[in-house]
Amino acid sequence: MAEKSKILIIGGTGYIGKFIVEASAKAGHPTFALVRESTVSDPLKGKVVENFKNLGVTLLYGDLYNHESLVLAIKQVDVVISTVGFMQIADQVKIIAAIKEAGNIKRFFPSEFGNDVDRVQAVEPAKSAFAMKAQIRRAVEAEGLPYTYVTANYFAAYFLPNLLQPGATTPPRDKVVILGDGNVKGVFNKEEDIATYTIRAVDDPRTLNKILYIKPPKNTVSFHELVAIWEKLIGKTLEKSYIPEEKILKDIQEAPIPLNVVLAINHSVMVKGDHTYFEIEPSFGVEASELYPDVKYTTVEEYLRQYV
Ligand SMILES: NC(=O)c1ccc[n+]([C@@H]2O[C@H](COP(=O)([O-])OP(=O)(O)OC[C@H]3O[C@@H](n4cnc5c(N)ncnc54)[C@H](OP(=O)(O)O)[C@@H]3O)[C@@H](O)[C@H]2O)c1
Repeated sequence: MAEKSKILIIGGTGYIGKFIVEASAKAGHPTFALVRESTVSDPLKGKVVENFKNLGVTLLYGDLYNHESLVLAIKQVDVVISTVGFMQIADQVKIIAAIKEAGNIKRFFPSEFGNDVDRVQAVEPAKSAFAMKAQIRRAVEAEGLPYTYVTANYFAAYFLPNLLQPGATTPPRDKVVILGDGNVKGVFNKEEDIATYTIRAVDDPRTLNKILYIKPPKNTVSFHELVAIWEKLIGKTLEKSYIPEEKILKDIQEAPIPLNVVLAINHSVMVKGDHTYFEIEPSFGVEASELYPDVKYTTVEEYLRQYV
């Protein structure tokens, strides 16, 4: 069997990054994390770094804004996964330049992990955020770097615990507010599963220069289906009200940052249908649960059980 690729994660101490570092190490890939020295001494992030060490991850000190450190780190691995945050998305051109200079990378995963940014119908402020990721795609392609773009859709822990009810921290037990007509399907994936699928894709020729959509059938649900799953779990019917699209658009305009971003993402997904409105064509994409049927992903129903 071919050796497992050496993987460098840039942004590994971030929210989704730490799941990906862990999945990489546990899958037996020699795993490297680029960390800033200031992060290691941080009381909270230091614990994340300590866990990396326990998993056998090699720490490489560096910074997105230090070209030499990037090139040195990249030269030690085969694959680079970026999980940098929103503020660093545009600056991934620095990673692209370092990969180009290093010349040894067989796959780059830019920081995506959300909607397919080439197929979105979002309004501002989500629109610009998605456009920034699309620009990074174009930069990757212009340099001819081998890539996989991971479309992870909704992170479960961000959107399921409150059933998309703004301000709530647990799922509703009496009344639920539904966006749009409630029939548009979104996709909700547990972070550990997103990480597992991402790491599976690393050495898979079927995901080379493709979008990997994480869209398992049981996690692809409309607002009505989501509420019905919850109602079944708690054995109770909720009182439903609906927010029409015009009102959602007004709310987005009036909401402060960052609530407006969340509302605009929810509009893109649950009203415009940006997770599901198009077919995945073999020319540009593959679906993770079809490629890796042995991965036992957590379903929306299983996920919601913890709140019963
Ligand atoms: N689909 C969804 O529901 C969803 C939800 C949230 C995010 N996302 C997407 O997931 C991706 C990652 O977002 P996130 O929220 O997980 O990120 P995050 O928590 O903000 O983490 C950012 C990471 O980048 C690192 N970083 C920042 N500046 C750096 C620098 N100068 N040099 C090196 N590393 C640097 C941070 O390191 P330190 O630890 O040192 O600060 C951290 O590890 C984004 O593309 C985001 O849009 C998707």
